[in-house]
Amino acid sequence: MRSILASTIIVVSVGLFSTGLAHESSSLAREGTLDAAPQASAKTTADPVYSDEQSTRGQALSDKLCSSCHGDKLAGDVGPPLQGPDFLSGWKSKPVADLSEKIQTTMPQDAAGSLNPQQVVDLMAYLFKLNGFPAGSSELAPGAGLAQITIASK
Ligand code: HEC
Repeated sequence: MRSILASTIIVVSVGLFSTGLAHESSSLAREGTLDAAPQASAKTTADPVYSDEQSTRGQALSDKLCSSCHGDKLAGDVGPPLQGPDFLSGWKSKPVADLSEKIQTTMPQDAAGSLNPQQVVDLMAYLFKLNGFPAGSSELAPGAGLAQITIASK
């Protein structure tokens, strides 16, 4: 009798405990979903927004198409530096879409308009790498999402 009582207490209390847990985790999940929505539209380049593989592709393009004017590692030559404090002070707080537009419509200066949107995001991934922003597991994709990411200062 005693052991039946004891196991009933265990069963009941485990039951209550897990109901409580389930309740708690579902409300956590709800809060998580609420939080996730504004965060998704408020990223900056201080978050990982490109991958290492993508910046490596960007570097290959840059060596061919950009460094002739912007210098080795895009540190500046006849074109301005595309890394470091001078570059970042001009672009901080602006959407990545603006940088994309600048590159897409005006660069390379001797062949403006020749890059496709994928090449532009790959080049920006390289610029973010050079400026010390972190790489992650997903790539920076061309399109409307670029307006949702802000360039961070350092
Ligand atoms: C023929 C020389 C030349 C080449 C090649 C060139 N650029 Fe430029 N770039 C310039 C000059 C000059 C400026 C400054 C005038 C301006 O902003 O348009 C500039 C400006 C820029 C800016 C704006 C910098 C700032 O701080 O506002 C970016 C970004 C840029 N270039 C990216 C690129 C990329 C990416 C490539 C390669 C696809 C490239 N450029 C190739 C000459 C060049």
